[in-house]
Amino acid sequence: MRRVAIVGTGQVPVQKKYELGLRELGAAVIDQALGETPKQRIEAIYLSNMLSDELQAQKHLAALVADEAGLAGVEAIQVRAATAAGAAALRVALLAVGSGAVELALAVGVEKMSAQPPTAALAKALDARSEVPDGKTLLSQNALLMALYLEKHGLPADVLAPFSVNAHHNAQHNPFAMFRDRQYTAEQVAASRLIYPPLRLLDCSPVSDGAAAVLLAPLEDAHKYSNNPVEIIASAATTDRFRIGDRPDPLHLAASAASAHRAFNQAGIARQDVDFFELHDAFSIMACLILEATGFAAPGRGWEMAANGAISLEGSIPIATMGGLKARGHPIGATALYQSCEIVAQLTDRAGPNQLDHPHTGMLQSVGGAGTTVLTHLFARLP
Ligand code: COA
Repeated sequence: MRRVAIVGTGQVPVQKKYELGLRELGAAVIDQALGETPKQRIEAIYLSNMLSDELQAQKHLAALVADEAGLAGVEAIQVRAATAAGAAALRVALLAVGSGAVELALAVGVEKMSAQPPTAALAKALDARSEVPDGKTLLSQNALLMALYLEKHGLPADVLAPFSVNAHHNAQHNPFAMFRDRQYTAEQVAASRLIYPPLRLLDCSPVSDGAAAVLLAPLEDAHKYSNNPVEIIASAATTDRFRIGDRPDPLHLAASAASAHRAFNQAGIARQDVDFFELHDAFSIMACLILEATGFAAPGRGWEMAANGAISLEGSIPIATMGGLKARGHPIGATALYQSCEIVAQLTDRAGPNQLDHPHTGMLQSVGGAGTTVLTHLFARLP
């Protein structure tokens, strides 16, 4: 494998609803990610989306977006991994460029969840035979994990509230965040509407529309395309037992642990070398369990990192530095590409008021379903 860098990024603000279609949103972020790079140089687009079959009656999205972007003729393939689709598209683009098969590739994520309530379509990330018929959804499964966690560790229901407080705080300075104008106290989070006990409104990421893209090139050519390239130093994908009920310990996210471990080995770094972590905080409990699975916190102690400020911009391991899934928004297929754009901004000192102090290494972890598929990517500042 040759070394690969991100040499362009594109994002539209995450919104509750866009009138623009999937194709227009996709084309807009492709244009941004290309910048000055001529379209003729692009060889491949790997596009991530989860819900367009159900919500827009549209399959075959990669070629549609390629055409709209004026890129007809390129290889254009859709990549799927449920709610981790964006990370899967990034991984495929990385492998394509890293292998030498492709010189310049785009990973593009686009999602419009606003068309109709997406809960049933999202539940298709679960087992259609033995989970969905019982009424299970991603909301119910995360509520189950939260209930198990609180019970096992004897914790009060509001113990995870500081995760949301942190995310909403960080979103206020992100021009692409959905909730730039909504700050909450832990008390407000704990008093928000019950959605699926013990899960409350402010424990959840919102339903949202958005699109984001990154342009990948061989590292040796990176400066031809960008003054601010960032290297992707690891990419690892793993799976767990598909259903929560089949896992020996549902509170240990084995796929999260394994993909992080593999990524650290690939990059030849230790967890302690990670300066910030864009994780899959679709629900506060997921952020907490990921911190524990990846070893940043001991089992049963992830909540403490939110309570004591370790996850804040000034903390030992900042998470959701631009608002995270909770407050930037989580337009599913686009999410990991938004996170990649944010990591590039942090590693090139362009994160505005949320800029960390010269971080060197950023970590991204994305979760498909209720902890079933997990992808970890590591990114490094270039000298
Ligand atoms: N966080 C903060 N505010 C939220 C919110 C959230 N997650 N979801 C909705 N709101 C706000 C809306 O902005 C709206 O406020 P406004 O009237 O001032 O604009 C208000 O709450 C009502 O919004 P509405 O869309 O009617 O809420 P809802 O009850 O239909 O949806 C959830 C709430 C939690 C059910 C929905 O956001 C959800 O399903 N989230 C999870 C999505 C998911 O599963 N993603 C995949 C995870 S991997």
